[in-house]
Amino acid sequence: MQPQQVRQLLEWYHLSGVTEATLPAPVNRLHAPRPVAPAPQAAIRRPAPPPMNHKVDPALTASPAAAAAKARELAEACETPEALRQAVMAFEGCALKKTAMNTVFADGNPAADVMLIGEAPGAEEDRQGIPFCGPSGQLLDKMFAAIGLTRETFYISNTLFWRPPGNRPPTPEELAACRPFVEKHIALIKPRLLVLVGGTAIKSLLDTQQGITRMRGGRYRYHNAWLTAPIETRVIFHPSYLLRQPLHKRLAWHDLLDIEAFLAVDK
Ligand code: URA
Repeated sequence: MQPQQVRQLLEWYHLSGVTEATLPAPVNRLHAPRPVAPAPQAAIRRPAPPPMNHKVDPALTASPAAAAAKARELAEACETPEALRQAVMAFEGCALKKTAMNTVFADGNPAADVMLIGEAPGAEEDRQGIPFCGPSGQLLDKMFAAIGLTRETFYISNTLFWRPPGNRPPTPEELAACRPFVEKHIALIKPRLLVLVGGTAIKSLLDTQQGITRMRGGRYRYHNAWLTAPIETRVIFHPSYLLRQPLHKRLAWHDLLDIEAFLAVDK
């Protein structure tokens, strides 16, 4: 490990409130060294996103039920994540497409064991067409690097594929229109562990009104009609919340350790 990586890891531990080298149970570090992933890249470089189709169909955007039905029909026909990306890009049932610069579909490794789902693209994600590439994404990458995961070992997407103007929260109608794509996305990736990042993803995918503060620390199983079996699921604070409430990084650290422990168990 490079000195720079050690420094970044220690900085993240410190920010998370890890000031003591102790855990509830003893760890024999001579026999079980923690794998340390390479530090996240300062800036993610990807090919330029394909040109965006801003077209929407007023008959679909005026009727959330019709938009969701169309999304379900399109999603049903997709057999690969790439086909789903194309279907999402061609979908005309979400009015956010009119103001977005790019469709923000996914990043990371589609064959990974872990799939993260956040809320919706922000300004930087909209500019680059990559989920979680702005300030909150940089924190998210540091958090996961601390448990040995990078975008080569996780896959990441959102509950919406287009930026809500001014970063306002997604409306229930927007979430409902995109949800069939999100469901099929999870079924095509079929991760060992699904991690819902922040309240919107939790409420939307676990069909609950409970907030993240109540839900964090729990163990859940996510299911939908395209899956043959439920998927083990964990929830974590959204990194943009942690940027505003750094004291909660301490709780986020416990949630990350729980994710690490789940993944350490043999498949
Ligand atoms: N916040 C999210 O929930 N998703 C992103 O892609 C960026 C910020």
